[in-house]
Amino acid sequence: MANLLSLNDLTIEEIERILDRAEQFQKMGENGWRSPNHTLVANLFFEPSTRTRFSFETAEKRLGFQVLNFSSQTSSVQKGETLYDTVRTMESIGAKAVVIRHQKDGYYRELTSGIGLPILNAGDGAGDHPTQALLDLLTIRQEFLLFQGLTVAIIGDLRYSRVARSDAQVLTRLGCRVLLSGPEEWKNEALPGEHISIDEAVEAADVVIMLRIQHERHEKAMKMSKEEYHRLYGLSRERAARMKPGSIIMHPGPVNRGVELDGDLVESTKSRYFKQITNGVAVRMASLEWALQSEKEAKAHEPVIEKW
Ligand code: CP
Repeated sequence: MANLLSLNDLTIEEIERILDRAEQFQKMGENGWRSPNHTLVANLFFEPSTRTRFSFETAEKRLGFQVLNFSSQTSSVQKGETLYDTVRTMESIGAKAVVIRHQKDGYYRELTSGIGLPILNAGDGAGDHPTQALLDLLTIRQEFLLFQGLTVAIIGDLRYSRVARSDAQVLTRLGCRVLLSGPEEWKNEALPGEHISIDEAVEAADVVIMLRIQHERHEKAMKMSKEEYHRLYGLSRERAARMKPGSIIMHPGPVNRGVELDGDLVESTKSRYFKQITNGVAVRMASLEWALQSEKEAKAHEPVIEKW
């Protein structure tokens, strides 16, 4: 078994193996559904989610798993139960893996000892979002086949976005040129990449990733109006018209139409917004399989699900 906390913990070979396996699941389509089995997986979401939560649940059901859906609002968290005790409770009930989304950066550090089941990080505060980065990689790879030499612009709330961090780090490792752009107050010098203006970034990029504004993590309310943000830092139709031929638009969602991205562009031929969401299911199937396989099986580099 292995935790999936940050893609920085995985080798490029492991990342590519998960992407390959996700594509195998996609090719299997309906035939990729597994018979119901006794593998119990708990989804612990301490923050709202639509895409990540429901694509993990779909992935688990396609793998034949039994799914426990936990809500912090209706659990003993309200009576003071700690994250460690919640996870130990799931383990004692019989869960074989936990998927956790939590508002605290690096929440998993307090779980490293005493937990005997793999943790799949579904997003930690402004830290990491490894399965979002994997589905972004799959979407880019399906479009361009290779990462080496691609230019990827990541635009918007660079400081508070865990997607920006996970994507910038892994894309740099894969040989992409990463361009970063956004409001000065949300600049993040810790991210790998070149800080340039949004217009230069949009015109140079093969892939433009627009970020959601992370209002829930801001200490102060945004100074500018939504209209002003869109004009200065959003992908308007006018800006998108200056993108390179063959380039694509991505956004992790949920998208604020007319703010980060013009509403019409979400549905445009350049947009891969819905493709990203679709790819999330296969990527999470492959991630769950990777996390649950034994070290021996991992060394053999073989898909293992048929053996369960
Ligand atoms: N991209 C993403 O994490 O979306 P959700 O918050 O809806 O899961």
